[in-house]
Amino acid sequence: MTFTPATIRVGDRDMSVSPLFTESQIKARVGELSAEISRDLGSAEPLVILVVLHGALLFAADLVRGLTMPTEIESVRLKSYHGTQSAGTVEVVGSLPDIAGKRVLIVEDIVDTGRSIATLKERIAGLGDRGPKVVRVAALLDKPEAHDASLVPDYTGFSIGRNFVIGYGLDLDGRYRNLPYIAELKAQG
Ligand code: XMP
Ligand code: MG
Repeated sequence: MTFTPATIRVGDRDMSVSPLFTESQIKARVGELSAEISRDLGSAEPLVILVVLHGALLFAADLVRGLTMPTEIESVRLKSYHGTQSAGTVEVVGSLPDIAGKRVLIVEDIVDTGRSIATLKERIAGLGDRGPKVVRVAALLDKPEAHDASLVPDYTGFSIGRNFVIGYGLDLDGRYRNLPYIAELKAQG
């Protein structure tokens, strides 16, 4: 069993770590999403899986294995987040892959304020006639109460509250991505 401490120090506070979704709950839900996406976007034409690094790595790896259409896997890195505080501005790091005329599924770990995905979608829209013909968003987790950009993912694994979560790709300052389950950090006391 992967080791997780019962508490994690964040800045000057100890946060308790409580399990939110087990490995088998995640597996079942990701399987459902793969089936739904395969039904909706099933075609002989490839679907470009645009993985938002690094958070969506584990989710995307499991999601693609359940897809029935041909896929091409690409990635993009966004910079925005520091510790448990959203930094406010989001930047697409480097250039986008060539997605001209293609069908694209953006795969994201979590939609919090929605600014990351909104920024990525704007950047894609800015490609103009080099842009894709279809863009959809799959997010493993969504925090609807935290949105400030109006954005609803086309496919959502689980809707959750505002607490910070770790595991299954999600990190706290780069750590805990390898946990096979998702846990929530809560202020103690
Ligand atoms: P926005 O606010 O742009 O944020 O929708 C999306 C990005 O912020 C990170 N994020 C989190 N990472 N636990 C994490 O490990 C969380 O609870 C959390 N909330 C937001 C994440 O990188 C996401 O892509
Ligand atoms: Mg992310």
